[in-house]
Amino acid sequence: MALLPILCYPDPKLHRVAKPVAQVDARIQSLVDDMLQTMYDAKGIGLAATQIDVHERLIVIDVSEERDQPLVLINPTLVWTSPTSHLNEEGCLSVPGIYDGVERFDAVRITALDEKGQSRSIETDGLLAVCIQHEMDHLLGKVFVEYLSPLKRNRIKTKMLKVMREDAR
Ligand code: NI
Repeated sequence: MALLPILCYPDPKLHRVAKPVAQVDARIQSLVDDMLQTMYDAKGIGLAATQIDVHERLIVIDVSEERDQPLVLINPTLVWTSPTSHLNEEGCLSVPGIYDGVERFDAVRITALDEKGQSRSIETDGLLAVCIQHEMDHLLGKVFVEYLSPLKRNRIKTKMLKVMREDAR
């Protein structure tokens, strides 16, 4: 297993649209292991392949307190959303230190393949539903700050670029 570098907003590679995983094989299983390790190491609750510069439809999630319930979603498809939504405070491993409110559906139902290539259907609400929506956005090249006002987004962009310049020194 290996820790993978996480792309930071506003890296343009975060806006690439991911392609479906063609086959759940040893390469994907090894990628899943690396992504889980990277997510746990970064203390995140979700990581999309896009964030590690792999543009395939693959997500890892763990919203459990004990950090022992990994969920792997390959080629996820949204099949139902609740009629109601709510504002949720979100952060992202690709936008460290920034938290802001995003409107998300209260509940969703998705279908996806697991790490063994088995098809599964998940209907959920709460934090897991929010996390799934956030990570599926990444696969479409969308980062949560894009829901915020242009003013806020530009402020975040400027701050991130400043942090990166300081890190590069
Ligand atoms: Ni994120």
